[in-house]
Amino acid sequence: MCDPQIDLFFFFFFFGNSHVLGVGSGSTVVYAVERLAQRVRQEKLNIVCVPTSFQARQLILKHSLTLSDLDRHPELDVAIDGADEVDAMLTLIKGGGGCLTQEKIVAGCAKHFIVIADYRKDSKSLGQQWKKGVPIEVIPMAYVPISRSIMQRFGGEVSLRMAVSKAGPVVTDNSNFILDWKFEQAQNWKEVNFAIKMIPGVVETGLFVGMAEKVYFGMEDGTV
Ligand code: A5P
Repeated sequence: MCDPQIDLFFFFFFFGNSHVLGVGSGSTVVYAVERLAQRVRQEKLNIVCVPTSFQARQLILKHSLTLSDLDRHPELDVAIDGADEVDAMLTLIKGGGGCLTQEKIVAGCAKHFIVIADYRKDSKSLGQQWKKGVPIEVIPMAYVPISRSIMQRFGGEVSLRMAVSKAGPVVTDNSNFILDWKFEQAQNWKEVNFAIKMIPGVVETGLFVGMAEKVYFGMEDGTV
């Protein structure tokens, strides 16, 4: 992540005189929050932050930013988040870090949803860059029937995401499981997203269709 990219975002953000910010999850957002905190201190800005995960909450607290939630701020001016992959239509795969449900809720409450990512996330078609598939958050008791249903209807392979430093599955901030669906070919993502969401026990998918308004890619040479 490069500074010009972050400055570009914050130009957009403050130009709009916005005050309530959704803070995404992942490694890229860390840089954006650092820069935000710097500007809040220097310019005495009045910014309220709504987190998308435990990680984002810790980040907000670490930088002494004002923490809020959707109860107090159900309408956000801007949400900023990373992505695992972005296609030519700005359809995203998110949830590599397992926070997709809260990320989608917060993005859905924002007037503007802005994505920041490095150039390796830029893709003509989903699946070309991100090889781990579409994350899907599910109610634990339903993970087997949901996995079967997705494979029967859409092909590919579905696996239960396992924890690295614990024997057992990853458990989300909402106490659910994550499935990773490795699809075989590009699909109509709007239809697929809707169809998967209709399977009983599916909480949310990591397909963000028609949500991102702008995506800023940080390039290898530091340009945006
Ligand atoms: C978290 O659940 C994800 O959606 C992240 O926002 C996404 O994976 C991007 O993360 P990085 O900035 O770490 O690549």
